[in-house]
This record gives sequence, C-alpha cells and structure tokens, in this order.
Amino acid sequence: MALELTASKGGTQPKRGVDGLVALTLTDMDAVNALIRARMDSPVPVIPALADHLIAAGGKRLRPLLTVAAHRLAGGKGDAGTKLAAAVEFVHTATLLHDDVVDSSDLRRGKVAAHLIWGAAPAVLVGDFLFARAFELIVETGSIRALGVLARASSVIAEGEVLALSRANDLNLEHETYLKIIESKTAELFAAAAESGAVAARASEPRIAALRAYGLNLGMAFQLVDDALDYGGATQALGKNAGDDFREGKPTMPLLLAVQRTGAGEASFWERTVVRREQTDDDFRRARELVLATGALQATFDLAREYAASAKGALAVFEAGEMKTALEDLADFAVSRAC
Ligand code: IPE
Ligand code: IPE
Ligand code: MG
Ligand code: MG
Repeated sequence: MALELTASKGGTQPKRGVDGLVALTLTDMDAVNALIRARMDSPVPVIPALADHLIAAGGKRLRPLLTVAAHRLAGGKGDAGTKLAAAVEFVHTATLLHDDVVDSSDLRRGKVAAHLIWGAAPAVLVGDFLFARAFELIVETGSIRALGVLARASSVIAEGEVLALSRANDLNLEHETYLKIIESKTAELFAAAAESGAVAARASEPRIAALRAYGLNLGMAFQLVDDALDYGGATQALGKNAGDDFREGKPTMPLLLAVQRTGAGEASFWERTVVRREQTDDDFRRARELVLATGALQATFDLAREYAASAKGALAVFEAGEMKTALEDLADFAVSRAC
C-alpha cells in the first residue's frame, strides 16, 4: 500500500512523495509487516479476523516508516527498530478501531468499518488487545526509555480523544485548544514513533530531540491536512467518508475558520448543523462551499505547510544524506497528499 502513495491524485505542490523513504526502508518494512501479521494472531478467532480486516486493508504505514527511518538515520542496527515500528502501527491500529466507534464512522481504509461488522464491543476489545500486544513487543527490545515514550504517547492520545469528545459541537472552541487536541491525538504518536526509533539506536540527546520535533511537527501538518481533506478531499482516495467531521459536528480548523469568516450571516446555519446537528443531505455541500469560498480550506493547508517546514527545519542537526532527504520529502507529502 505504501508503495502506491505517489499514485495519489490532486494537490498542487510539486510532489516527490515517499518513494525514497519506501525504497530505503524496504527490508525493514518487510520485517515490520511480518511481525505485525505474526503478533496479531490469537487462539480466539474473532481477534485475528477483526484485526486482519483492518490490517490487510493496508493503510499508509507512515508511523512505522518513521520509526525505522529514525532508527536508521540515527545509526541503529539490529531488530529493535522493526519491533518498535510494529508496536507503533499496533498502537495506531488500536486507536483507529476505537476512533471509528467514537466517531460513528462507516468506512475505514476503503472497507466497511470493523464495528459495523462485528459490533462496537468486539472492535473496542480487539483495540485493547492490539495495544497490549504493542507493549509486549516494546518490552522485547529491552529499552525502558522507548517503553516510556510509547506508554506516554498512548495516554496522551487517549487524553486528546477525550478532550475532543468533551468539546464536540462547540463552535467556540479556541484555536489553541484545537491545536492541543490534534497534537495529543495525532502528533504525539508521530513524535513518539520517531523518538523511540532514535532512542533504540542510542542516538545522542540532540538527535533524539530533533527526531522527536520532526515527528511532532509532521504529525501536526498531517492532521491539519486530514481535517482539510474532510472538506476538500474525495471519499474514494481517502478510503473514509469525506464530510464525516461535519456530520459529527466536529470543530476542526477549516470549520472554525469558516464560521469566524462568515460571521452573523451564517450563524444560524452553523448553529443548526454543527451545534444541534440537524442536517439535511444538502448541508454538507453548502458547508463545503463556505469552507472553500472563505479561504478557510486554503488557510488550513497554509498552516499545515508551516508545520511541515518546521519538521524539515528540525532535521538541521543531521548531515546531508539520502535518508534525510527522504524524510524531507515525507514532510512535503504530508501536505500534498490526497489520501
Ligand atoms: C488516520 O491516519 C488517522 C489520523 C491521524 C488522521 P492515517 O491516514 O495515517 O491512516 P492509515 O493508517 O493510512 O489508514
Ligand atoms: C484521528 O482522528 C486520531 C486518532 C485516530 C487517534 P480523526 O477522527 O480525525 O481521524 P479519522 O478522520 O477518523 O481518520
Ligand atoms: Mg475519526
Ligand atoms: Mg478526520
């Protein structure tokens, strides 16, 4: 799946994609995928069936790519990088299973969401199983510090999801709080993915900090673009339904900016559709038009580009090389992606 990334359509920026990174990490990523398959197994048949539904559907595997790339960039050898990478993807997969229940999402990775096939309770419990399996893998690396990094990330993600839930349908959400939410629910795992790879490679403290900063800024850019694509993207490319955030009344950056910019003129439209969630089929089309016409979509992409630039800047401590270039390209991909 990751190999197909550059085939994605759309976006106006020059796009080198992640080909370089994929090529440089092929052997490691094969090992990561084999580990993922082996470790999602269980004698309880629902577990591998449900996990495989989501895992076999692919996904971009961005976070484990980040871990193996950080591990290599920091000079790491051995299998700690691939074990941590598999664990990172398990944590991510667990959060997707939970998130689709919380968000009542129907489609994930182009397939019917697991909770609609097996029910919400099995989906949540298999998410817990994957979380636990992730930590077994991390323990095998023997790195207490990497364990701490990923344990902390897991609690921060949960905090971010709960904070988002507690401020759903709130048109007065402060931009600062929105940024805190996306940092917690998404950027923290990107940061931990890169940091743990560097930690396992026994990199110097400045290099560990640099890779963490790279991941954190990349994650911010990635989630801002995800929130923009919910208005500006296509369901087919995304593999999840465009418009889900609006239908759920989620105050994301494109929506908050559009609400601000349309002022009193559209206040009752937003109040009805987002706060009270009384929507007709046509309302998403109208919301999308307003998000585009006010420049709210563009402003969200612009902010994402600033974070991507910071991500690249964080790599300054590393000497030039193909892995560094590949990570710079990944930052470009995060803001030009259509999937
Ligand atoms: C989806 O992440 C959840 C967000 C943080 C937006 P990805 O878009 O990386 O999901 P997959 O793994 O490629 O399906
Ligand atoms: C993604 O949040 C963050 C996590 C899964 C923890 P979203 O709710 O924005 O992600 P999508 O749009 O469902 O992929
Ligand atoms: Mg969601
Ligand atoms: Mg989303």
